[in-house]
Amino acid sequence: MEIGNGPLFVWGLLISSILAQSAAAHPLRHRFYYFTCPNAEHIVADVVRAAVHADAGLPAGLIRLSFHDCFVRGCDASILLDTTPTNEAIEKDSPANAGTLRGLEVIDKAKARLEDECPGRVSCADILAFAARDAAVLAGLPHYRVQSGRRDGRTSLASEVGDNLPSPYHNVTQLIDMFGKKGFSANEMVILSGAHSIGKAGCRNFEHRMLNFSADNPTDPSLDPTYAYYLKLMCTPSETLPNSSRSMPLDSITSMTLDNAYYVGVQMGRGLLQSDQALMTDSRTRKMVKYFARNPHSWANQFGKAMAKISTLDVLTDSHKGEVRTNCRFIN
Ligand code: HEM
Ligand SMILES: *[C@@H]1O[C@H](CO)[C@@H](O)[C@H](O)[C@H]1NC(C)=O
Ligand SMILES: *[C@@H]1O[C@H](CO)[C@@H](O)[C@H](O)[C@H]1NC(C)=O
Ligand SMILES: *[C@@H]1O[C@H](CO)[C@@H](O)[C@H](O)[C@H]1NC(C)=O
Repeated sequence: MEIGNGPLFVWGLLISSILAQSAAAHPLRHRFYYFTCPNAEHIVADVVRAAVHADAGLPAGLIRLSFHDCFVRGCDASILLDTTPTNEAIEKDSPANAGTLRGLEVIDKAKARLEDECPGRVSCADILAFAARDAAVLAGLPHYRVQSGRRDGRTSLASEVGDNLPSPYHNVTQLIDMFGKKGFSANEMVILSGAHSIGKAGCRNFEHRMLNFSADNPTDPSLDPTYAYYLKLMCTPSETLPNSSRSMPLDSITSMTLDNAYYVGVQMGRGLLQSDQALMTDSRTRKMVKYFARNPHSWANQFGKAMAKISTLDVLTDSHKGEVRTNCRFIN
């Protein structure tokens, strides 16, 4: 008997492939809005471009927003909520987020444009995923494709943030574990840390490294001494900035460009956060830091892939789960 001959076999293949697709781990797809809101991605890109033109620091904010959304309760735009019906503290209130999130108003603006163009169609979670990609591209990364079809969650809890996001005090074992829980390898963790090639960190996140690092060493020995001296000077309270509300660029070489200079800096003892510098100190990750310091294209391609992967974490795609919010700050 000849196999594969005849319409029944073809239909069988088709049906089993459709079934396999609907059972896939993340049934998002490219151009989810092709029929329902064909300009969706263009509109988001437009809004992000205009916003970044006015404030070049926004790409960092948008990329971090997407990461913090997706690692906590999946990419469900839970980080955007201002309040929920339970009145519990929201993700924005958690120590990891409070007062440091940037780019929220860009998402609001894109959402408003999309509600005009195709009301109730485009989820805030998809807008955030598109915006993070557009931000990365504007900061110098090659374009990468983002799937869509996410739905927005109705829960946002500050209490869930701490256990799901890495801390600048984590050592490499803890960082590997934290990313491992989300399905990312040590290599991907190192690649994603390259996001710190743009943006800034408040002095409170690293000044212990120059002030009272340990009993034997007031200054972190893994810090380049010249850089440590400079950071201490810049973070010292003064008349104009009396408390530690100051911040410093995470990448001291090219702080506005999403590139591999972050790894060059880390190699030189200029990783701003203890967790950045730890990647160079630890023998498990040192080789990767050195590799990415020498291979800009390899890093950029893999970073795009890893960002696309983050944007698929624990998404809501079932029509019975989640919703398409009208306003990203409030559930419907
Ligand atoms: C590896 C573990 C990580 C730790 C411990 C960490 C920690 C931090 C901290 C403490 C800040 C400074 C926040 C502030 O003071 O305002 C920061 C900023 C930032 N992080 Fe991370 N992060 C990590 C990984 C990531 C990843 C995976 C991404 C994105 C893919 C990311 C993107 C950013 C960006 C873009 C900024 C700058 C934000 C801005 O300028 O507004 N980080 N991170
Ligand atoms: C990393 O930190 C954890 C928790 O503080 C600790 O138990 C572990 O020994 C540390 N690992 C290394 C390699 O320093
Ligand atoms: C020293 O470190 C502790 C935390 O380990 C911190 O609470 C304290 O403010 C630091 N002191 C100075 C002078 O920075
Ligand atoms: C000092 O810190 C307080 C919060 O502790 C903040 O509200 C205030 O804006 C800060 N002052 C300056 C000048 O940054």
